[in-house]
Amino acid sequence: SFLIILLSSISTVKSSVEQNIDIKRSDFPHGFLFGAATSAYQIEGAFHEDGKSLNNWDVFCRIKGSIANGENGDIADDHYHRYMEDIEIMHSLGLSAYRFSISWSRVLPRGKFGGVNRAGIMFYNKIIDNLILRGIEPFVTIHHNDYPQELGDRHGGWLSPLMQEDFVHFAETCFKNFGDRVRYWTTINEPNLFAEMGYESATFPPARCSPPFGNCANGNSDIEPLIAVHNMLLAHAKAAKFIVVHAYMYTPLTEDEADKEAAKRALAFNVAWILDPLVFGDYPPEMKRHHGSELPTFSSEERSLLRDSIDFIGINHYSTLYAKDCIHSSCICNDSSCIQGSDRPIRGFVYTSGDRDGVTIGEPTAMAQLFVVPRGMEDIVNYVKERYNNKPMFVTENGYSSPVSKNDDYQNDVKRIHFHKSYLAYLARAIRNGADVRGYFIWSLMDSFEWSSGYAPKFGLYHIDPSTLNRIPKLSAGWYGDFLSNSTLVD
Ligand code: NOJ
Repeated sequence: SFLIILLSSISTVKSSVEQNIDIKRSDFPHGFLFGAATSAYQIEGAFHEDGKSLNNWDVFCRIKGSIANGENGDIADDHYHRYMEDIEIMHSLGLSAYRFSISWSRVLPRGKFGGVNRAGIMFYNKIIDNLILRGIEPFVTIHHNDYPQELGDRHGGWLSPLMQEDFVHFAETCFKNFGDRVRYWTTINEPNLFAEMGYESATFPPARCSPPFGNCANGNSDIEPLIAVHNMLLAHAKAAKFIVVHAYMYTPLTEDEADKEAAKRALAFNVAWILDPLVFGDYPPEMKRHHGSELPTFSSEERSLLRDSIDFIGINHYSTLYAKDCIHSSCICNDSSCIQGSDRPIRGFVYTSGDRDGVTIGEPTAMAQLFVVPRGMEDIVNYVKERYNNKPMFVTENGYSSPVSKNDDYQNDVKRIHFHKSYLAYLARAIRNGADVRGYFIWSLMDSFEWSSGYAPKFGLYHIDPSTLNRIPKLSAGWYGDFLSNSTLVD
């Protein structure tokens, strides 16, 4: 499985890599895949067409106050009806791969309690066939945040081990129908982030949390994310060989030993939380020490099932955060030094954007926790390389959401171009130094529904005109196309 890690790191001083960015496709190994990524609920729309059932997001979006501006994915980018145009766009950019996800409720509207929806299978068949016809490698994610609401109602979502069996059924349905043409499968996108958002900060369905982590009292956020991930890891191991992890990079807030330890802990509690079980068969020692009996345990059969259950590691990397120790010093997470929603003093650290020696970690973006820290790309790749014996990696997501108004973003998104060039330059350096990275995907092909933030954050290479839903290329789309055809560009 692909494990996607979201990574970010500090860029206090611009290194030589950034000062003169002249990054070319030919700086990457022969056969390196360059693509773009999306996910079903974020782009498809057609939320109740051709036999698709309602999923956890269709229902969550209808609860007042869940999503910024009361938005939802009912129509989204209408990709369900415009997929051919979107594939033509990918072809015109020269993408060698496209990463997308399968909507569980479109293919198996009632999970394993009902039959397969042929219309759903046909839709993804058409996508896969048309990608292949144009020489674009399909990278398919099985679970990208959405599942049929019926499974949420029956099982309570990922808190129940029953979800494992349902997931295996879904994965097998996908392999059976698409496996003859799809070579790259990701089981679960970002299980780490998904568990935290759904069971700790209540920003994703089923919106569970408990004080002091959020303003709701319907859960137990100390342990529920641990249980949800436990079930997702076992579901992954029973199904397939790929998973994707979301990985931030962490760097100490100060030079104090305690903060240095906190940064190491932060990596273990976020990245190794998912990857150690899938590579070594058990949770990281750092987590076992800290959580004690709170951490679910694997039986010896489960450990063997998990061990080495990934062929590649998928890293979703966007940003880097400072880590501040909360074991030896007190952390009051209501102040501005803590990034809201990600303060987890119970695990012995908090995330913060700075400031360290008067310098914040990087330039802000439209997303509160994401800062532009290009160096973090090299740091996270090296962390994964060292901890997991240089297992092959893909950067399955990397992208920039502009904090400026949407008009500025789609007419003149030079900052997005700069973002990708500088992150790519650090990635190229990690590869030159031996990291086995095999591909890079831009998040995202086009602006789309950004979960609880609605449509405000824009990550796309293409702008979606709100009234016509026409796809309008941003400057960055032109840049990516030129980069892929290896023309020389001056910054
Ligand atoms: C990672 C997630 O996989 C994707 O769904 C999301 O839109 C991006 N990060 C940006 O936040």
